[in-house]
Amino acid sequence: MASTATNRAKSAPKKKSNTSAAPSGDNSMLKEFFAEELKDIYWAEKHLLKTLPKMSKAATSEELKSAFLDHMEQTKNQVVRLEEIFGLLGKKVQAKKCEAMEGITKEGEGVIEDTEAGTSTRDVGLIISAQKAEHYEIATYGGLAQLATTLGLEEIAGLLNETLEEEKETDMLLTSIAENDINYEASEEDAEEEE
Ligand SMILES: [Fe+2]
Ligand SMILES: [Fe+2]
Repeated sequence: MASTATNRAKSAPKKKSNTSAAPSGDNSMLKEFFAEELKDIYWAEKHLLKTLPKMSKAATSEELKSAFLDHMEQTKNQVVRLEEIFGLLGKKVQAKKCEAMEGITKEGEGVIEDTEAGTSTRDVGLIISAQKAEHYEIATYGGLAQLATTLGLEEIAGLLNETLEEEKETDMLLTSIAENDINYEASEEDAEEEE
C-alpha cells in the first residue's frame, strides 16, 4: 500500500453509482462519526493548551521552551479552527474527553517527575512526550481531513489540512532540536549516584 492517508485525502471521493447525490452526506452514519471525532480532538487541543506552558516551564533549553510556547499559540488557533468547523457542520461546539491524549500528557508529567530540572536529559524526555502528542494529532487530522473530503465537506477539509500541516511542522522542529543539540548534550550528562 503505497499511498498514505494524507495522499488519499487529495483525491476525489469515489461514489457508488446507486448512491443519492447528497454530497455532504447529511445524517449519514459517517458524518455522525466524524462529528464525534471532532469532539475528541477538540478536547485534546484544549487539554494541550494547559499542558504546553507546563512543558515550556519544565524545559531547560531556551530553544525548546520557545518551541513549546510557539506551539501553544498555534494551538489556540487550532481550537478556533475546530470551533469554526463545528459551526460549518451546524453542530454545537462540544468536547469529549480524549483518553489517549490524557494518557500521553500524564506520561509527560511522569517524565518531569523522573528527571532532574536543568538537564538536557529532561529535555530529551519532554521532546519524546511532545512528539507522541503530535503524532496522535497527525493521525487524527490526517484521517479527519480525508473523511471530510469523502463527505464532500471541502471547506472543512481545508481547515483540517491547515492544522495537519502545523502539527507536522512542529513534529519536524522537535526532531531537529533533538538532533542538533539536546540528544548529544544529554549523552554527556552523568547519572547521579543513588542516595
Ligand atoms: Fe494541535
Ligand atoms: Fe500539536
